[in-house]
Amino acid sequence: MSSDSKQYQSSVVINEAVQTLRNGGLVAFPTETVYGLGADAKNPEAIKKIFAAKGRPSNHPLIVHLAAPDKFDQSQIDWVDLLAPWVRDLSEDALKLINAFWPGPLTLVFKKDKSVLNELTGGQETVAIRAPAHPIAQELLRKFKGGVVAPSANRFGKVSPTSAADVRSEFQGMLDLMVLDGGDCEVGIESTIIDLSSGDKAVLLRPGAITPSEIFTQTGVKVYLPEEIKSIAAANEIVASMPRVSGSLKAHYAPTTPLRLYAPGRVLDALSEFPDTKSRVAVVVWDSESSLGLDDHPSIDVEEVVASSNPVTFASRLYRSLRDLDQQGWDLILFPEPPVGEEWDGIRDRLQRACFGSGPSSNNHDNK
Ligand code: TXA
Ligand code: MG
Repeated sequence: MSSDSKQYQSSVVINEAVQTLRNGGLVAFPTETVYGLGADAKNPEAIKKIFAAKGRPSNHPLIVHLAAPDKFDQSQIDWVDLLAPWVRDLSEDALKLINAFWPGPLTLVFKKDKSVLNELTGGQETVAIRAPAHPIAQELLRKFKGGVVAPSANRFGKVSPTSAADVRSEFQGMLDLMVLDGGDCEVGIESTIIDLSSGDKAVLLRPGAITPSEIFTQTGVKVYLPEEIKSIAAANEIVASMPRVSGSLKAHYAPTTPLRLYAPGRVLDALSEFPDTKSRVAVVVWDSESSLGLDDHPSIDVEEVVASSNPVTFASRLYRSLRDLDQQGWDLILFPEPPVGEEWDGIRDRLQRACFGSGPSSNNHDNK
């Protein structure tokens, strides 16, 4: 198929997707981070379907996805107009972040306009918004002409999908879902979330591809880590009012196979936790390092899987690897601890939560 005919075909399918959203249905669509499970942000019944499909607690708020301003449409000339129906108080800092990073993998949390549905904010006074960069997501949003709520298109607590096939396998047999296919997601982990709702300090709620230092370099806006905020005496109030983030549960993004991290050079220590002689173990190793030489380990059948030591490439393949390894019937999956450094923070965050929630019986997510 030529890229032109593919483009044409997508447009037809996208029109159908727009209609599905208008009728209160769900549509899964690609973004540059992960696939989202979309519904009309102004339709309470449609929003409830998302919570039911994911098995997600109803007090966990959703992100509203918006189209970027359309240069050819005079009524949608800039972000201020587009955000006005959703957001109270758009600060100068917010506009700096928006102009630098939207459309892109950055979600911003604002004080919400009173018209924003409680069903989507989990009853909170704030609303999370992002403009995804993927062309199919943008086309869908532009044609829909409204906000689309979209959590990652996975069952609650499970690994986020980075391909259309992943989405289908998440909901197979449960839900007859329309899935727009935009290929593999480029970024591979969910957007960075920054809370701007205090009106004072920008606070990092979820690390992602866009890091606080990149934000500082490009905009001059300082993003505080929650720990930093806690240590600022006057900020107690901000912490008390900090919003809930389901991705901040200790167990999240989890495979069913037990998953552990190993410190540099300490694979054997990690393996000794699992003394079962019949164990089949997948050990992920850095492409920059030589083989671990575990072939002749007496009791364990070990296979090495090579991973990129570049954080951008690593992130883009992380969920793909977790899903694939999870399907391959290993008794244990070992990943190397990501190196120290901000560009690895999003990856370390996802891997640690995936470890915590992994294993066949671990469906308990109320552990924060
Ligand atoms: O990259 C992404 O952000 C993907 C794609 C599909 O856009 N979406 C995504 O959605 O990761 P979800 O629902 O899986 O994660 C959204 C996170 C949740 O942890 C939620 O608690 C948080 O955003 N969130 C939503 N509204 C919020 C709010 N008002 N305040 C604080 N956190 C909020
Ligand atoms: Mg999610």
